[in-house]
Amino acid sequence: MNYRPLGRTGWRISEVSFGAWAIGGSWGQVSDQESIAALHKAVDCGVNFVDTADVYGDGRSERLIAELKKSHKSELIVATKAGRRLPHQTVAGYTRQNLSAWIEDSLRNLATDSLDLLQLHCPPTGLYDRPEVFGMLDDFVTSGKIRFYGVSVEKIDEALRAIEFPNVQTVQIIFNCFRQRPAEGLFTNCKLKQVGILARVPLASGLLTGKLRPDSTFTSDDHRNFNRHGQAFDVGETFSGVDYQTGLEAAEEIRALLPPAVCLSQLALRWILMFDAVTCAIPGGKNPHQVAENCRASDLPPLTPETMNAIHAIYNRKIRPQVHHRW
Ligand SMILES: NC(=O)c1ccc[n+]([C@@H]2O[C@H](COP(=O)([O-])OP(=O)(O)OC[C@H]3O[C@@H](n4cnc5c(N)ncnc54)[C@H](OP(=O)(O)O)[C@@H]3O)[C@@H](O)[C@H]2O)c1
Repeated sequence: MNYRPLGRTGWRISEVSFGAWAIGGSWGQVSDQESIAALHKAVDCGVNFVDTADVYGDGRSERLIAELKKSHKSELIVATKAGRRLPHQTVAGYTRQNLSAWIEDSLRNLATDSLDLLQLHCPPTGLYDRPEVFGMLDDFVTSGKIRFYGVSVEKIDEALRAIEFPNVQTVQIIFNCFRQRPAEGLFTNCKLKQVGILARVPLASGLLTGKLRPDSTFTSDDHRNFNRHGQAFDVGETFSGVDYQTGLEAAEEIRALLPPAVCLSQLALRWILMFDAVTCAIPGGKNPHQVAENCRASDLPPLTPETMNAIHAIYNRKIRPQVHHRW
């Protein structure tokens, strides 16, 4: 496992880290036993950074991470998120009182006195017109409730607004073979300001693993069923906002580029790691096998310019018309 500096935090974190949404909920049935095994495998593979949120299974994901921390002596950095407990996303909901309550919940769930990294969880765009909210986050740092803070965003414009606030340490954004626009300008700006980039949905919700088929089905409690058309939250979070059939076809074209002994998930993750502005990819992992397979992407040699160009060409031809202008 290779490690990269996370913005200005002083931390060096695993370039393949762990996304802990699926072990909380919204991805069909998962057993806590299997989830804990997946987390242990991640640490064994050198992962030292986990991304979660208060709302993933209403604290279930955070509590599993707390359990992992009890039995692992090595340092594990946990990034959590706040804001999605609001019944409706409004800028007015981001009050000191609400933020404080959400932070206290996460502190309890994670069994800690101070959150390593708190991310605003895709707040409305209007929040970036409210510097006082970032002032409140500064106060939570001063009081020791949180060590650092950052944002998770849907859109590039939101990320550009967020990094104008001097103490934003990280931007979490969808970046994968099917979402290439962040590399066009956002990354340069983040590098200039030494802001860390967490690349989320790196496997396009499973499309970029190559295992999905036209007739694959998803249970009613899996967002790949209930949010296929954005019924519950931003449609971009499910299959990266790419139409399922188009995604399958593009994944097959990328599969044709696989180097020997490399699987599609690993190629998709290695593609992300080719961008030095990225601090880490945070693939979700539901079991030890998936986690180990994903972590091995860090050990692969760089992709060739020919492979990078071919993936860009597939994106331009098949995916770009659906996503590039939207996020
Ligand atoms: N708004 C936000 O801030 C936000 C939104 C989305 C995600 N995130 C973060 O980003 C993380 C990653 O995104 P994501 O979990 O949505 O999507 P993802 O990483 O693109 O896909 C993860 C899913 O793909 C499957 N998978 C993973 N590795 C595999 C492998 N090697 N082989 C076969 N299948 C594999 C698993 O589901 P199955 O086995 O069921 O197919 C897994 O749950 C999340 O866990 C979360 O921490 C944040």
